[in-house]
Amino acid sequence: MRDWIGVFDSGMGGISVLHAARRLLPNENFLYYGDNGNAPYGSRTVEEIRRLAGAAIDQLLDRGVKAIVIACNTATSAYAEILRARLALPIVGMEPALKPAQAARHGGEILVLATHATLTLPKFQRLMATYGDAAIPVVGEGWVELVESGMAGTPEADEAVRRLLEPYAGRPIDCIVLGCTHYPFLARSVRKLFPNAKLFDGRLGTAERLRDLLVRDGLLSNSGTPGAVEFMTSGGEDALRKMQMLMDSFDALEDV
Ligand code: DGL
Repeated sequence: MRDWIGVFDSGMGGISVLHAARRLLPNENFLYYGDNGNAPYGSRTVEEIRRLAGAAIDQLLDRGVKAIVIACNTATSAYAEILRARLALPIVGMEPALKPAQAARHGGEILVLATHATLTLPKFQRLMATYGDAAIPVVGEGWVELVESGMAGTPEADEAVRRLLEPYAGRPIDCIVLGCTHYPFLARSVRKLFPNAKLFDGRLGTAERLRDLLVRDGLLSNSGTPGAVEFMTSGGEDALRKMQMLMDSFDALEDV
């Protein structure tokens, strides 16, 4: 029997996190659940997000996972505390990487891109109160849908990113936080508009936190062989195919 690490997202975005986790922990087995049939989460109410995330994570728990990564800033904001109170497993959540961006900026501003839910829920409000004096929060309107439909890296994606971010192109933007796990797939489009800004996302930090918790709890795989990856989705065959494609093409889309 395999000892799986469960990775959950509303859809394909968490594959960007899975990719980083695989690099850091190549001998672990990862079971990924994308709730593609219900994405996007970011424009839903907090109650809906909790209900959907709970049902999706139950699917991972049914398979006997040893740890859970909520590879979704939105679901973390709405549901991580509830999940931690419910389970004794290591649970890794995410938040927009505003703290390292604030430390790296040199007098300019920070664009923080995330979903509507992430930006309005208390978790991010607390982050803003401490690190947000130069931050401009922007909802990545339509970006999740772009990635879900397999359009990352296309001229249409460039155009959608340009439409949303052009109003900020004249400002002294030092750092851009990609605070939704779908957005790293659009990093190249963002980079075209802001060639000099430093991009931040939480993928590596999340993978490192996962490793630390596995070490702490004695759960690290001791197999010397490469681990497996299995995808599950509520979105049917088409979503499954796109997820595999995104996993294979991420090296080419990655730019941070
Ligand atoms: N990938 C998710 C996040 O990190 C949410 C995308 C969505 O479903 O709106 O916020």
